[in-house]
Amino acid sequence: MDKIQIIGGSKLQGEVTISGAKNAALPLIASSILVNGKINFTNVPDLMDIRSIRLLLEDLGAECNVLSPGCLEVDGSAIHKIEAQYDLVRKMRASILVLGPLVAKFGHAKVSMPGGCAIGARPVNMHLAGLEALGATISIEHGYIEAKADRLIGNEIYFDMPTVTGTENLMMATTLAKGKSILRNAAREPEIVALAQALNQMGAKIEGAGTAIITVEGVDKLHPADIKIIPDRIETGTFMVAAAATEGDVLIKGCEPDHIGGIISKLKATGALVETFKESIRVKGSRTVKSIDIKTLPYPGFPTDMQAQFMTLMTIANGNSMIHESVFENRFIHANELLRMGADISITNGNLASIRGVKELQAAPVMASDLRASASLVIAGLIAKGTTLISRVYHMDRGYEAIEKKLSLLGADIKRIT
Ligand code: EPZ
Repeated sequence: MDKIQIIGGSKLQGEVTISGAKNAALPLIASSILVNGKINFTNVPDLMDIRSIRLLLEDLGAECNVLSPGCLEVDGSAIHKIEAQYDLVRKMRASILVLGPLVAKFGHAKVSMPGGCAIGARPVNMHLAGLEALGATISIEHGYIEAKADRLIGNEIYFDMPTVTGTENLMMATTLAKGKSILRNAAREPEIVALAQALNQMGAKIEGAGTAIITVEGVDKLHPADIKIIPDRIETGTFMVAAAATEGDVLIKGCEPDHIGGIISKLKATGALVETFKESIRVKGSRTVKSIDIKTLPYPGFPTDMQAQFMTLMTIANGNSMIHESVFENRFIHANELLRMGADISITNGNLASIRGVKELQAAPVMASDLRASASLVIAGLIAKGTTLISRVYHMDRGYEAIEKKLSLLGADIKRIT
């Protein structure tokens, strides 16, 4: 299994270009199931998770062609299977995103329960309750969800709490339902707005995406469209934190500043210089990092997917900071690895971390546990004294395109060891 070796101490300098957003591409590629015809996706990131959903769609019978780097053509016309198998779903939980489109298009879907992951149990009860509200009958047997409906009927759906893929699944399902649906307490992430815009380009009638109330007027069918994937706001935030932590000066290009207000505000509070332009952001680190408190929340609050990266920054801040992880129940696994690097962190009742800043981190062999934890360990390696070796970097390859190449171009001493 690959490892990443980092020799710390370089200040990141220069320019980096952000890739397409994994968490926008996944639901958009799944939406191809709803359409008979070829959809052209551009600015698609080259990631493990994208390959996983492509394999899943091909297993269902869709035709997927990589026309050129970043350009993926998907034709759902030939889909002849409605079962998403365990050995494909277990590789990526987001495979649950085929459930809504399959039952909406074919009246039948069989998808393996996605199961949990390192950061939490990750239930899908809200996805299933929403489909039942649309008239589907749901059964769960031998680890598989089976959903059936002659035709979904529009209805009101109320989410107990905002769920990103739950909102996406049900927004896709309701586009082909009979009549009107209203999704209340919907998630408001930019990836949901992007999905709604794409579905409307395909002929759907969705209003309110990006707010807590989304209305969908069902239509009989959707048609192909050309879709460009939006920039990855979490990759953007990750490079912003890396620039600040290394006291660097980095211009992050091809990003969407409007999607990361929460990250910008918190990074400025730590003393970093952050300048925003139309499609780029400049981050200049300050010699002393101020300690700040963070609470993760659904969008537009501070994103849980940036919590681990910020924790690394706080380990070298000039005081005490508190991080409250309010979205997932077990998203501090990276803290144990940071402790091995000399950080001073204590966790109380699972979702509150108290961090006392230390002068510097020490390099050490560490292990990635999940996608964003791997990013926090990379940032730690960049600032630690000595040579850090990160194992299980397959977690990172799921969501960061060529991160060691991008960091090397910014002056980091980083390489992949296979
Ligand atoms: C999406 O996961 C993202 N994944 C996650 O990014 C992200 O961390 C998360 O949203 C929160 O922003 C994709 O978009 C592919 P949720 P999702 O449903 O949709 C609970 C990454 O690093 N819940 O918004 O699975 C759930 O347990 C990944 O790229 C239920 O209880 O997250 C959690 O506590 C990690 N029942 C909360 O809601 C449900 O039916 C929010 O989860 C669904 C969710």
